[in-house]
Amino acid sequence: MLVLGIESSCDETAVALVRDGETVIASTLASQVATHAPFGGVVPEIAAREHLKNITPLFLEVLSKASVDAGAIDAIAVTQGPGLIGALLVGTSFAKGLALRLGKPLIPVDHVHAHIHGALLGLPATDRASAFPALGLVVSGGHTNLYYMNDPTSYKLIAHTIDDACGECFDKVAKLFGLGYPGGPAIEKLATHGDLRGAAMPRMVERKSQLLFSYSGLKTHMATVLRQKPNMAQNEKHDLIAAFQDEALGQLVRKLTSAVALYPQARSIIVAGGVAANRRLRHLLSEGINIKALFPDVAACSDNAEMIAAYGYHMLQAGKIPPQATWDNYPRYPFEEHMA
Ligand code: KG4
Ligand code: ZN
Repeated sequence: MLVLGIESSCDETAVALVRDGETVIASTLASQVATHAPFGGVVPEIAAREHLKNITPLFLEVLSKASVDAGAIDAIAVTQGPGLIGALLVGTSFAKGLALRLGKPLIPVDHVHAHIHGALLGLPATDRASAFPALGLVVSGGHTNLYYMNDPTSYKLIAHTIDDACGECFDKVAKLFGLGYPGGPAIEKLATHGDLRGAAMPRMVERKSQLLFSYSGLKTHMATVLRQKPNMAQNEKHDLIAAFQDEALGQLVRKLTSAVALYPQARSIIVAGGVAANRRLRHLLSEGINIKALFPDVAACSDNAEMIAAYGYHMLQAGKIPPQATWDNYPRYPFEEHMA
C-alpha cells in the first residue's frame, strides 16, 4: 500500500511516498531554517507563506522521483497537529483537496506520535512487531513526552515536561551563548571541546521514580552563570556547555531507566524527535539502558513526511481514521480552555 505523507506543522514542508509503513519510495523536504534564523525562532506567518509556496512543487517532485502518477496513491496521511495553525492549514487543506480529487482515504495524524515511526522505518515487519510493547520517547523543540506503547498506534502518555521541552532548553541556552538557532547541533559540537566535570549543574526532578521532566531550572542556571561571569574564557565556556548537555541528556536517561523498571514488559525503547539526533544521547542510552534502543537515522530525527506516511499506514491498518474529513487541526496549546 502506497501512502502519501504531508508535513507542514512548523518550519519544514515535506512530502513523501512510503510503501507499507516500511519502505520510503520518494521523499522531499523544503527547510525554512535559514529563513527564520535571523529572527532567532520560527515566525508563524512567514512559515505559513513558505509552506504555501512549496507544497505543490514538492508534491509534484515526489511523484516524479517515484515515477508514478497521483492515481498510484492508496491513501493520504497528513499532520493534524500540534503545530502553528497557519502552517498546519496549508498541509491539511492541500491533503483534503487531494483526497477528494483522488477519492482516497485521508488520515489525520498526530505529529508528536508520528516521530516514533521515524525510528521504525526500514525495519522489516517482524522486527517492528517484536519491538512492542515499547517505551517511546519524543524529545523535540516542543515536546518531551514519554509513552507506553502496546502497539504502533497506541500511545499512553506516562511522562511529560512540567515546563520547557528538552530541545527548547538547548535552543534557549544556545541563544544565551550567541550560538544561533537551532541550538541543539551547535551545543553538541561545542560540548565535544569541553570537560563535563569542569562545571557543576543543578539536578532537576531529582527523584528517580518521579516520571516527570523539567528543563527551565537548568536554563535559568545557565543564564545566571553567564550573568555572573560575562567574560568567561573559551575553555570554561566549553566545560560549562559540556556539563549542561550531559545534565540535560542525563535526565532523559534517568527517567527512561525508571520507566524500564516500572514497565518490565517493554521490549524496547524508541527515541525520536530532533534531540534524538544527538550522538552523546545515543551513547549515554547505550551504556545506561539494558533493553534494545531504536533511533531514527540522524537525518530523519527532525520533521519529515516519511514518519507521517508510515504512521498513517498503521492508523489505516488499525482502522483508526475518522469516517469523514470534517475534522479540524489541533493546536500547540489548548486555547479552547480559555474561550469558555
Ligand atoms: O523534532 P524537531 O525537528 O522539531 C520539533 O520541535 O518538532 O526538533 C527540533 C529540536 C530543536 O530544539 C533542536 O535544537 C533540537 O531538536 N536538536 C538537537 C540536536 N539536533 C536538533 N538537540 C540536541 N542535540 C542535537 N544534535
Ligand atoms: Zn517534530
